[in-house]
Amino acid sequence: MPVIDRETQQRIKDAANIVEVAGDYVKLTRRGANYMGLCPFHNERTPSFSVSPRRNFCHCFSCKKGGSPVNFLMEKEGVSYTEALLILAKKYGIHVEQRELSDEERRRMSEREAMLVANEWAMNYFHDNLYNTEEGRDIGLAYLYGRGITDEAIRQFRLGYAIDRGDALLSRARSEGHDIEVFKKIGLVGTSQQGRDYDRFRGRVIFPVRNASGKPVAFGGRALKGEAAKYINSPESTLYVKSNELYGIFEAKADAIKFDRIYLMEGYLDVISSWQAGLHNSVASSGTALTESQINLIHRFTDNVTLIYDGDSAGIKASLRGIDMLLSQKLHVKVLLLPEGEDPDSFAKKHTPEEFINYINSHQTDFIHYKLSVLLKDAAGNPQQISEAVRSVVTSIASIPDEIERISYIKECARMVDIDEKVIARQVAQTMLTLSQMTRPTYRQDFNSSVTIPKDGRQEPPSGTQTGGPETNTAPQSPQTGQEAPAGQAGQAESPQLSRYMRQEEQILKYCVRYGFLPVPFYEDEDPLSVLDFVDAEMQADNILFSHAPFLKIFEYLKDKAPEFAEAAERNAAEVERRLLEEREQFREGLRNRGGSLAKIRNEEEKFLATETLRRQDLLNQFAISFSIDLLINHEDREMREIANSLVAERHTLSAIYSNAGGETLAEEDKLAELVPRALSELRAEILNRKVQELQAQVVKAIENDDRELQQQLMARLAKTLSMRSEIAENLGERIISPR
Ligand code: CTP
Ligand code: MN
Repeated sequence: MPVIDRETQQRIKDAANIVEVAGDYVKLTRRGANYMGLCPFHNERTPSFSVSPRRNFCHCFSCKKGGSPVNFLMEKEGVSYTEALLILAKKYGIHVEQRELSDEERRRMSEREAMLVANEWAMNYFHDNLYNTEEGRDIGLAYLYGRGITDEAIRQFRLGYAIDRGDALLSRARSEGHDIEVFKKIGLVGTSQQGRDYDRFRGRVIFPVRNASGKPVAFGGRALKGEAAKYINSPESTLYVKSNELYGIFEAKADAIKFDRIYLMEGYLDVISSWQAGLHNSVASSGTALTESQINLIHRFTDNVTLIYDGDSAGIKASLRGIDMLLSQKLHVKVLLLPEGEDPDSFAKKHTPEEFINYINSHQTDFIHYKLSVLLKDAAGNPQQISEAVRSVVTSIASIPDEIERISYIKECARMVDIDEKVIARQVAQTMLTLSQMTRPTYRQDFNSSVTIPKDGRQEPPSGTQTGGPETNTAPQSPQTGQEAPAGQAGQAESPQLSRYMRQEEQILKYCVRYGFLPVPFYEDEDPLSVLDFVDAEMQADNILFSHAPFLKIFEYLKDKAPEFAEAAERNAAEVERRLLEEREQFREGLRNRGGSLAKIRNEEEKFLATETLRRQDLLNQFAISFSIDLLINHEDREMREIANSLVAERHTLSAIYSNAGGETLAEEDKLAELVPRALSELRAEILNRKVQELQAQVVKAIENDDRELQQQLMARLAKTLSMRSEIAENLGERIISPR
């Protein structure tokens, strides 16, 4: 992926016209100043998709998706920010120059590029073997036909065949002048102990694994003669991280968006057979447990997943294992069990496409029904087994972040096992408490090793902290000890304790990454502050700090870039003025040429100048917005880059355009004066929530030990904390204050 310099990014964004971009996907009809059409993101009969040329963005009133031309393409095509820009550049004939890269960046970029080129070449080579070599036809193609795979599917998935010879690919690649070192890195060529190079894939049918943009990043080679290794797979490389990919996602994404659902299966052949039967939104995790990055990949296209597994017990176990993880990542999960001994591949073969689709539509059940029915199946009145089944279901329900959804599942579960709802609810609440102390998103996996969870479910304070309570990252002054914890020390920020505020910190950081340098009038009577400066000032005032080290790193990095931004912004402002002047000149010339009364000319000119102010503001804002994003999404530090990318690409905020009281739709960036302070308050509130819990526990202990004095002291602190908490709660509305 090339690094697009800021100016070009701006040029592309300026050129992109939402009416034209969305118009490629939707038939638009004029309605006053706007256009309306059938929403391209969901199925509908009456148009609720609105396109505003003035604001250059679109919005669906029904499914709430939309955004700028870039957002639109990210959502619609399921591509990254940079990829969306490239699509637009192509559409508008804008030449994309790669910016000056550091040597290291250039090396890595060209290495990746070279690996991609080699994979692409190999994919075509393998595919070509199938049809244009005798061995390919007699063995590879015959095998695929034998398994009922059609030419259409073979072409769609670019299946191939590796000739059964030590150097078939190797010698072809050499003769075409390719660098064999690259082929070694991507695992197509191996080197023997004697130092001889050889083809790693031999006499196998080839399944290319393509990423969401259709680029082959790896291959799976299936054995044909019952060799010990049924599949040989490409090794991991800078190009291929197995746990990030889902087989079939490129072919599945369009229908995943259209039908708002993805089917998750086990193997390559399951996906291909389903595709042939008309199910075009299925992917495979390729025989491994789902990872968080795969779930994020799914989230780019839909929030709904159906797991399809074999009806054998291994399949069932596998599906049960995956559910909680999916639920906790805000996916709505259904499960489909095929008859015993069948996988999607074999099942599709035995039925017509209509039967296959009908079966899938009528047999997918909610995970809770599924889980209970599986677990209760052989419990047969055995109370111990029943209670174990319920406990397991309760754990799943506790993984659901959404409260309303959770409650409805509690009801459902209570009904199914005929147990009092309150009993289930209490168990769920208890489990959530335990879970909240154990779960961590992947990018804080590094914490796992350093956290110990003692038997009573409470985390030990980090070693080296003297106070008994889990003092927070926020290092608020501790009224009890009178000790002021120093804020802003990296060592402190590393503490495992602190990961508890991940969710709140992530929200704040998101605004910093997206809008860090954007000036926002946070206080009505003062000059606008940049989002970064505001967050910095507010956090300092409360002695709060990002507790998660990578977050802190990103935040500090952005702060460090402020002078650089100021300088660049100044240059940009001059450039903007030049452009506006040019446009004004053109406008005046147009006016002069058209003629008309002096009054009319004056009138038109005034109108033009009024829009010019808006345009200036918009151009300056866009520059500020892309500055921080651009710094980070291609940053050389992988962790920073990944976090930034996920914060920029997050689907839910792409669509975070909502109505204010006046009914006009506003972009996220127009609501920052409200959103950023709110995010900060949510962090404060959470800190106080924890504090309250902690104090309550200490009070209980003090009562047990009959320590009256301590008890009184603690109660006083508790009262103070509670009143602070309710003050913040008032500002926030009631939304966040109830402990999860
Ligand atoms: N897999 C793998 N390595 C193996 C076995 C399996 O990578 N040694 C992965 C493949 O992605 C495979 C998936 O796990 O597609 C499911 O395995 P399986 O059902 O055994 O393979 P299928 O592709 O379904 O092949 P077949 O139907 O011929 O058994
Ligand atoms: Mn199989």
